[in-house]
Amino acid sequence: MIRLAGIDIGNDSVKLVLNGQNEPIIIPNVISPGYERHILQEEESPLQALDVMVYSPKLKKKNQRYFVGLLASEDQDNAELEDTDNKATSDQALIVALTALAYAAATSGPSQAQPQPGGGFVSADEAEYIIGTGLPVRTFAQFHRTFEERLVGEHEVTFLSTPKLRGRTIRVNIRRAIISVEGAAALYHMATHENLQVRNEELYYGCIGVCEIGALTTDFPVVKRMSIDNQFSTGEQLGLAAYLDGIIRDVEDQYGYKFPSRAKLIQRIRREDYTIQLLGEGQADIKPIVDQYFSRAAQKIVDLIRKRWKKYPDIQCFYVLGGGAAALRPYLIEAAENMRLRFVDNSELQNVYGYLKLARNRLNQLEGGATVV
Ligand SMILES: Nc1ncnc2c1ncn2[C@@H]1O[C@H](COP(=O)(O)OP(=O)(O)OP(=O)(O)O)[C@@H](O)[C@H]1O
Ligand SMILES: [Mg+2]
Repeated sequence: MIRLAGIDIGNDSVKLVLNGQNEPIIIPNVISPGYERHILQEEESPLQALDVMVYSPKLKKKNQRYFVGLLASEDQDNAELEDTDNKATSDQALIVALTALAYAAATSGPSQAQPQPGGGFVSADEAEYIIGTGLPVRTFAQFHRTFEERLVGEHEVTFLSTPKLRGRTIRVNIRRAIISVEGAAALYHMATHENLQVRNEELYYGCIGVCEIGALTTDFPVVKRMSIDNQFSTGEQLGLAAYLDGIIRDVEDQYGYKFPSRAKLIQRIRREDYTIQLLGEGQADIKPIVDQYFSRAAQKIVDLIRKRWKKYPDIQCFYVLGGGAAALRPYLIEAAENMRLRFVDNSELQNVYGYLKLARNRLNQLEGGATVV
């Protein structure tokens, strides 16, 4: 059985959708060195405690233990991606992606592994994949081959202290990786139905501007009749992360309270929970700090959009997407004044659905409809 999946290897989080399943799997793109942990109470779900050994010929350290995602985001020694990292070549990006693919395989479909009495499993599970994924506008031309070569091949993930998956080994065999452009894939998803027929003629046949605000990059593809405009599409090495880091720094300076990771801060912002607990019973409201950074971020993005639109007045409308659009939406609307910007719900998931559809589209073209699930 070959699984078809869309996977968005985001600098903030890796999102994965299996063909035919609607619910995405989301894993924060954070890792830390793994070790034997003292478990007082086992976590409820595997995603809360991804503790893995990852083997891949493409990794510098070939057989290493990592905490991945939520478990790592609690750890003071964790690593989140930096703006010097390139997801096409980054080991961390590959580690989290392989963990996501292994988790998806382990929790969907039957297992060939026989549980042994006394725990553990006799054999490994094979998980064959065809994946759709993507790179930022500015990295795509130079790195899409490298990225494809890193992904395609045989890798192996063993779950260690992860609840429900303890001792399971998944051999992740990526048969083919179809690489698209971030932001443009999102637009393809918005313009088409699940069966890939045109859903929105304006988007499908028009000239559309996209501003996709990620954690470390913001992509500005211009898409005309579903083709990427080579001349006008660009990207910026700038995303929400720099502003989150600023907020974390200021909160620490002012209140002595340190968020262990951007992921922890954004969880608070998503819940609109701006009150932090101070040592010795006090509380503080960090909303003014968030407002200050997010207004500044929004102003910068709006200026960039205005500049792009002026350069290319054929653009009919501008969509603001990515997790950054969700975080900055009210600030962007305010900064945009009378320039109309378009938003969609779940903007951070539009790419991954787009990658899956583009992969399906390519397979249909190549094989006249291969039998993939
Ligand atoms: N629904 C949401 N509300 C508020 N903030 C969000 C939401 N979803 C994501 N974010 C935040 O927005 C930022 C961008 O998220 P997104 O998932 O688009 O980034 P990414 O795709 O992982 O990164 P990149 O595109 O740079 O590789 C992150 O800092 C993330 O924490
Ligand atoms: Mg992204």
